[in-house]
Amino acid sequence: MYTALKSIHLTCAVLSICGYLLRGWWMLRESPLLNHRLTRILPHTVDAIFLGSGIWLAILLRYLPHQQPWFAAKLLGILAYILLGLVALRRGRTKTIRATTWIASLACFAYVVGAARTKSVASWLSLWP
Ligand code: HEM
Repeated sequence: MYTALKSIHLTCAVLSICGYLLRGWWMLRESPLLNHRLTRILPHTVDAIFLGSGIWLAILLRYLPHQQPWFAAKLLGILAYILLGLVALRRGRTKTIRATTWIASLACFAYVVGAARTKSVASWLSLWP
């Protein structure tokens, strides 16, 4: 069960970031594809499975944010990623705001992957010698 859930979670992580990069590119190019019906539905489906598998894994492994600081940090990173993504792809009034928040959201995603891999609040920095 653990292995299957983790594979689903990781596959969704790859699909989610690839889709997000593509939508960011379309946002920068002001492409009408950003508002295509499929573009509005598909990412939500992937993200729902992504989130669901993550929550399921956390329950299975008995991870609690107040007991594992890296997990709490990961959840905060995810929240920042989602909120910045919302501004980048929908709410940002100018292209500068949208582009800046898009870059910042990608930094949050990188932080979250690092926190998950290293199980440390310092994320990738914990690997620094
Ligand atoms: C931007 C969103 C997310 C990213 C980039 C992400 C990334 C990852 C990665 C890379 C791993 C594998 C870590 C390893 O190799 O051991 C992982 C595992 C995991 N993730 Fe996520 N995740 C995200 C969202 C979530 C959410 C929303 C939850 C739960 C609320 C969650 C809970 C977990 C759990 C419990 C594991 C298993 C850790 C273990 O095997 O010890 N993730 N995640």
